[in-house]
Amino acid sequence: MPVLGLTSLSSWGSLVSVALLIVFSYVVIKLTLAYLDYLRWAPFYTGLPMDPYASKLLGHLLMYPGPNEEGLRFQMERCDKFPKFHLLWISFRPVLIAHHPETVKVLLKSTEPKPRQLGTVYILGLDWLGEGLLIANGQKWLRNRRLLTPAFHFDILQSYIALKNKAASVLVDKIDQQVKAGNSFELFSFIGLASLDIILQCAFSYESNCQQLGETHPYVHAVNVLSDIWVARSLKPWFYPDFLFYLSPSGREFKKNCDYVHKVAEDIIAKRKKSLEEEGSKPKSRHLDFLDILLTAKDENSQGLTSLEIRNEVDTFLFEGHDTTTSGMCWTLYLLAKHPEHQRECQREIDELMEGRENRDLQWSDLPKLSYLTQCIKESMRLYPPVTFIQRVTTKDIVLDDHQIPAGTTIGVQIYNLHHNKAVWEDPYEFKPERFSPDKERKYDNFAFVPFSAGPRNCIGQHFAMNEMKIILVHVLQRFNLSLDPTGEVNIKIGVVLRTKNGIKVIAERR
Ligand code: HEM
Repeated sequence: MPVLGLTSLSSWGSLVSVALLIVFSYVVIKLTLAYLDYLRWAPFYTGLPMDPYASKLLGHLLMYPGPNEEGLRFQMERCDKFPKFHLLWISFRPVLIAHHPETVKVLLKSTEPKPRQLGTVYILGLDWLGEGLLIANGQKWLRNRRLLTPAFHFDILQSYIALKNKAASVLVDKIDQQVKAGNSFELFSFIGLASLDIILQCAFSYESNCQQLGETHPYVHAVNVLSDIWVARSLKPWFYPDFLFYLSPSGREFKKNCDYVHKVAEDIIAKRKKSLEEEGSKPKSRHLDFLDILLTAKDENSQGLTSLEIRNEVDTFLFEGHDTTTSGMCWTLYLLAKHPEHQRECQREIDELMEGRENRDLQWSDLPKLSYLTQCIKESMRLYPPVTFIQRVTTKDIVLDDHQIPAGTTIGVQIYNLHHNKAVWEDPYEFKPERFSPDKERKYDNFAFVPFSAGPRNCIGQHFAMNEMKIILVHVLQRFNLSLDPTGEVNIKIGVVLRTKNGIKVIAERR
């Protein structure tokens, strides 16, 4: 037996050695190819605005402090120094950072695709979101965007108002329980569940009850884990190849959470298919929702979406449809709690609108009347844009601020920098909702403020999102005065959306 044990031990050892040799050879080949690429391409980028860097192998990567407040300071130092755009070397890969309306608009007005090369951001989300609308390119994107646009028609959005009011009422009741108990509460967890309930019910008619079911819903938790790992991986070039990443503990965690969210999406689809079969041609008792459109949409060749395409879109909408709006609402409430004079102004506007009404629900026709609240939401998304950056890759040579940029260049549109660029905004770090009053807003370049991006690949859900944010905020501000809990510290964390390290604690008081 001991001999057998030793034999299996030595063959196990050989296996490990072979595996290590394969990994090592793979890394050396990849690095050599990347370096040869670098030698070929580097001359095209000389002379572009850029900081010096210490290491050729990692470029500027080692200078980046991480996806946190320090990281934002690092970004803004470069933005102050190079107000239109600048170049970063991420290992051997050049990435341009655009953060001025003049340079941002060159990209956003075009239909340049999202990059897919190793080391760019979207490819790292592919195993989670698949070729859904957010990540797809070319004809696939165009076809699916056309198929899905009807899901955001005003008639459909209007039918969601009642569901959004209902979710908002549950939220304020939950906050009220905290008031009664004399506790402060954490915005991201409370608002995140309300927002998840809204997207599940509006888009999929799924009776979710997330808000009643728990503070840390497994879906919300999984999305947070996936988003954190996605960002962390983007800063570790050695984990760019899938096979190395999935050998690591965070790779396995990513896979586990992907499997979970895919299962949630598949369950939603399966339940709907079943109920559509049962309903047959009977008139539906519920509103026409996003899933109905996904399951029945046909292109000009009468082709519908495949099962995988449907799952990818469901995953994309579940993620994009709740995490971004949660971030938008939490930062707005944070700023209103921090600036009571603006909070009071919003409440004054809401009270005037709701005067004499029997219930606290908003009507569709009320939404355009909330002009001060809208200004506050916009100013919050300027200061804390839920999506802080996006990327494109050029398919032809372009000119940025009089510099020739070769085709094949990855360009990051840094929305956070753009919104704080002192060459564009006066007092860029101050909360001044009046910037967005109708007379002043007109004076800004259309590409100075782009929380929902702009151009052909803008956010398909922006009206859905704005309606949701207004409804939730109106319900909260009608019932409570908010202030920041002095025991809580707010530390920014850049995930796939802008969040905080430990949440935002606020104290509510009944009005
Ligand atoms: C405050 C809330 C939101 C913000 C700030 C936001 C922001 C953005 C941004 C910046 C993009 C461009 C991404 C890129 O170029 O890579 C985008 C795209 C997208 N958003 Fe939103 N979003 C929000 C809410 C929503 C909602 C509620 C939905 C769905 C219900 C949604 C669905 C999408 C989809 C599907 C895309 C991809 C569109 C395409 O490429 O054709 N978003 N969003």
